[in-house]
Amino acid sequence: MKFIIGNWKSNGDIDKKDSMIKSLKSVKTNNKVILCMPFHLLGGGNSVVEIGAQDISLYPNGAYTGDISGQMLKESNVKYVIVGHSERRKYHNETNEIVRKKSENAIANGIIPIICIGESETDKKAGRTMSVVKKMLLDSIPKQGDFIVAYEPCWAIGTGVIPTTNEISAVHETLFKALSKIGRDTTPILYGGSVNPTNASEIMSINNVHGVLVGGASLKYDTFLPIINAAK
Ligand code: 13P
Repeated sequence: MKFIIGNWKSNGDIDKKDSMIKSLKSVKTNNKVILCMPFHLLGGGNSVVEIGAQDISLYPNGAYTGDISGQMLKESNVKYVIVGHSERRKYHNETNEIVRKKSENAIANGIIPIICIGESETDKKAGRTMSVVKKMLLDSIPKQGDFIVAYEPCWAIGTGVIPTTNEISAVHETLFKALSKIGRDTTPILYGGSVNPTNASEIMSINNVHGVLVGGASLKYDTFLPIINAAK
């Protein structure tokens, strides 16, 4: 079973969500399909697709204007939440420590965090990819509880440029080994960044790639369906 997770980011509306959920209803798949929606579209889903969230407050309920707490996500039937996406790290200054605390907050509310990590273009050019992703991983994961890791190189997000098969394989092996060392070898490790109907099958056949996190191509049924079907 692979994870096919869509991230709608700040996109979508009620009509688009309804139409996507309706279209996916008749899809036959053994894979885990999740669409992480903006907050106003949480809830719903069906036997094929679950609705997840894209962020969680660092804090419990209280005087934190604009924040959506773990308890609120739980009440919206959310079982998965993306944390530490590179866009949140970049535009909202989220550090590994914040990401770890958010992950722990999710777990405390029975929600599985999808923890995003990935090197910048500068890191890659400087040959620092492995050390950067390993540190991000170990500093961002919760002390206990189940989680999912998504490796998303920042330079591959929304650019149409993806790492080579060998590069993805090498990073996922490094992450798998780091997780194994701390007794977390069953943690799913997903790849994200410019996944599309053409490259999805090859990416998901790479060793230690347990699924994909899809941005742009998850917004339309015509591009999301072939990605779901590409997962063996
Ligand atoms: P794209 O698939 O649009 O490159 O986005 C990837 C992403 O950021 C998913 O979280």
